[in-house]
Amino acid sequence: MERSTNGLEGVVVADTLLSHVDGERGELWLRGEPVERLAGRVGFEAALGLLVGGALPDAAGVEQIRALLARGRSLAFERLPRLGDALDRGDAMDALRAGVAHFDERELGCGVESAALLAGIVATIGAAWATKACRAPDPSLPHARDHLRMLGARAGEDEAAALDAYWVTVIDHGMNASTFAARVVASTGSDLVSGVTAAVGALKGPLHGGAPGPVLDMLDAIGEKERAEGWLSGELAAGRRIMGMGHRIYRVRDPRAAVLERALERYQRALGPGGGAAAARLELARGVERAAEHLLGARHPERSLRANVEFYTAVLLEAVGVPRELFSATFAASRVAGWCAHVAEQREAARLIRPASRYVGPKPL
Ligand code: COA
Repeated sequence: MERSTNGLEGVVVADTLLSHVDGERGELWLRGEPVERLAGRVGFEAALGLLVGGALPDAAGVEQIRALLARGRSLAFERLPRLGDALDRGDAMDALRAGVAHFDERELGCGVESAALLAGIVATIGAAWATKACRAPDPSLPHARDHLRMLGARAGEDEAAALDAYWVTVIDHGMNASTFAARVVASTGSDLVSGVTAAVGALKGPLHGGAPGPVLDMLDAIGEKERAEGWLSGELAAGRRIMGMGHRIYRVRDPRAAVLERALERYQRALGPGGGAAAARLELARGVERAAEHLLGARHPERSLRANVEFYTAVLLEAVGVPRELFSATFAASRVAGWCAHVAEQREAARLIRPASRYVGPKPL
């Protein structure tokens, strides 16, 4: 039998029409559209329509998806009293996993409908977990704006535009661990909610979606960019990884880091002179990234370890008022659309995913 590939690097497990990731060139396309062309130009509604429905929706299509997202928020809000202790979990991702499991595929429909409903549901469970007294959704508002309002954050157009740019950027990303988990579950013929629940569990891990909270902890601990090199050297000497740096696929800087950095710049310009704190934070993040890149480059010259999506996710979500404990769940509020699209694609492939393992234990005596 062949040697095992721990971590499945380079193993192609599906043909997909959804997203293309080129780790050497630093490219991400969603249904053929480069991510940098979408983020900041279209909202989350349109990106969801593109990914799940197959084409960028027109204005009427965007309105329909907006209404579905609002219905998802209402569905979740009405269900909150029945979620029992799901919302009391100490970790937002535990709450999300338990909360999502309360829904049934039969009430969610399929295609764009189920993806938009679930995106509304995930965002609302996150807001309810974070605030412990969730405000009722306002269906007249666009999704990002209403989500920020439900969180009790500043919910102006500029904040919503920044959150939208983030959600568009992270909606799908090839065969990442949570997507793979969803596809494995779908391949057994199981239901959509089971696939999404498995994906939430995979996303919880710090090597996948759990890095942006620790990125902010790192920025807090460093405080000023002149201290970055010393602090980071200490972490590396202690054998710890620098959060927000490195990626399994990218050998160049993650293209999503640049997209989010630009979204932050736009947000700061919109804030004008009032955006001093956010500007200082971005400046610090850039200094820390430079120092981390330098140190990791010296330590691992064979492997390019550059900023990944989580690095600027942390700075952007903090700037628009999302609490750091909710960062992974906020990521899930977008990626759930990707999971749904992959579940549908896997169902069409109609093939059980069942790899092999290589037994390396003792033989019977
Ligand atoms: N900080 C310090 N060292 C790192 C590192 C980081 N962020 N990322 C990778 N390395 C080191 C590893 O320790 C390893 O060194 P070793 O061979 O001396 O043990 C080497 O680089 C290769 O790393 P490897 O574990 O093979 O890379 P991977 O492809 O499995 O890892 C990540 C990809 C994302 C898991 C990894 O880069 C990481 O842990 N990053 C921090 C967490 C993070 O930001 N996650 C979000 C991802 S979007």
